[in-house]
Amino acid sequence: MSGTVSGASSDPPIQNPETLIFRSVRAIDPARGFDQVVDVVIERDRIQAIGAGAGDQALNSERVRVIDGDGRWLVPAFVDLHAHLREPGQEYKEDIRSGLRAAAAGGYAHVCVMPNTKPVNDTRSVTELMLTRAREVGGARLHPIGAITVGQRGEALTEMGDLRDAGAVAVSDDGVCVMNAQVMRRALEYASNFDMPVIQHAEDHDLTAGAVMHEGEVSSRLGLRGWPRVAEDIIIARDILLAEYTKSRYHAAHISTVGAVRLVREAKSRNLKVTCEVTPHHLLLTDAAVIGYDTFCKVNPPLREQHDVEALVGALADGTLDAIATDHAPHSPLEKECEFDAASPGLMGLELSFGLLLELVRQGKVPLERLLHAMSTGPAKIVGIEAPRLTVGALAELTLVDPSLVWQPNQVTLHTKHKNTPFMSHTITGRVLMTLAAGRVAFEAPGVHERRVSEKGAPA
Ligand code: DOR
Repeated sequence: MSGTVSGASSDPPIQNPETLIFRSVRAIDPARGFDQVVDVVIERDRIQAIGAGAGDQALNSERVRVIDGDGRWLVPAFVDLHAHLREPGQEYKEDIRSGLRAAAAGGYAHVCVMPNTKPVNDTRSVTELMLTRAREVGGARLHPIGAITVGQRGEALTEMGDLRDAGAVAVSDDGVCVMNAQVMRRALEYASNFDMPVIQHAEDHDLTAGAVMHEGEVSSRLGLRGWPRVAEDIIIARDILLAEYTKSRYHAAHISTVGAVRLVREAKSRNLKVTCEVTPHHLLLTDAAVIGYDTFCKVNPPLREQHDVEALVGALADGTLDAIATDHAPHSPLEKECEFDAASPGLMGLELSFGLLLELVRQGKVPLERLLHAMSTGPAKIVGIEAPRLTVGALAELTLVDPSLVWQPNQVTLHTKHKNTPFMSHTITGRVLMTLAAGRVAFEAPGVHERRVSEKGAPA
C-alpha cells in the first residue's frame, strides 16, 4: 500500500502506508468460525498476520500505521448485489464516483450495479464504460449486471456471452419484470451457458397496474392503489418451475413477502439452484411507514406487513435468505418532492445498511455471523466474486466498525447525492469506520484519526 487517494471533496486524504496494524481488534470471519481479539497486520495489500501480539514485529516496518482496535470489530468487507448508480444517463441522481464513495463509506468493497441506466446496460460498450469509469474513480470495486433483454423491454435476449466477456457478473431487467414465460425460459437456458445467474424483479405488472404501495388495510385507509403480495409470489413460483425445468440458476431480487420466503425455502429443500436477497428496508419497515404519505417510503416492491417482516427476518436467521442487498436507489427531490402517486420508487441505502441492521442482532433476532455472511460471503458466491476473507494471505478487503457508536445520518457527511430515505433522522447504533477494498484504504471516518495510535514511524 502506498500513496494517498482523496475521498468525497470534504474528506481528508486517505493514508495508505506500507503496513497497517489493527491493534487488539475483535476479528470475525464467519466463513471459518473465527471470532477473537487479535492484532491484524496488513502489508502491501494483503493480510500478513493475525494473532495476539502479531503487530509487535510489524511495528519495526518502515511506514507503519497503527489503528486502535479496542471495542471495534474487523470483518470481511461487504458485497452489495444490487445497487443503482445511475451512470450513464442520470448522473444528477448518482454517478459512479459518488456511488462508489458511498459504497466504501458503507463498508462495501464490491458493488454490483443494475442495468437500468440510460442507455440500458444491454451491450458490451455500456458494461465497458462503467468499468472504465470505476477504475478511474478507485475505491470499492464495481461489477456490472447486464440486462436480460434488449432495452429491458422483455422481448429479445441480450448477447449475454458478450456482456459476460466484458465483465458482467449476472443478468437482470431489475426495475421491470420479465413477464413473458417463454422469454424467461430462454433467458435461463442462455445465461446458464455463461454460468451467470438470472436475477428477476418479480412483479406481475398486470396485477400491479397503477399500484403505489402494498395492498392491505393501510392502502385502503390512505386511498392509495395497492400491489398485492400475489403479484410477487406468482412470478417467483413460475420462475422456480422454469429454473427446475431448465436446471438453471435463478436469483429472486428484493423479496418482500411471506409467500416468497415459503416458495424459496421449498425450492431450496429440493436442491434447486435458487437463491434470493432481501433489502434492509424490507427487514425493518412495514407499510405503516407510508401513513403520512412519505414519498421516501415509496419503493418497489412495497413495504409489506408485520408478518412479512417476521418471515423475512426468520429467513435471514435460518439461512433461507442468501444475501442482504441494499437496492440503493437514489432519486433527486424532483422525483420525490411531489404527490405520492407521482413519486419515483426507491430508497438510498449503501451508507446506512450495516448500522441499521445491527439492531436485529442486538434484538436477538439474527445471529451476528448470519448478518455478516449475508452481507459478504453469501452475495459474493451468487455472482462468483472471490469473497473477502479474514485469513492470512488474503487480499485485504476488510471493514472496521464501531458497534456502539451512536449517530444520525442527518448529522454526518454522506457521499451519496440524495438523501431519499426515511432513516435520515433515525438514531443508529453502530457505524463503519474504515473500509479496505482491493488492499487499499477506500474509506475512513474522522473517528479513526482521533483514536489512531502512532507508535513508530507513523505517517505525517
Ligand atoms: O424501488 C425501486 N427503485 N425498485 C426497483 O426495482 C428499481 C429502483 C430504481 O431504479 O429506482
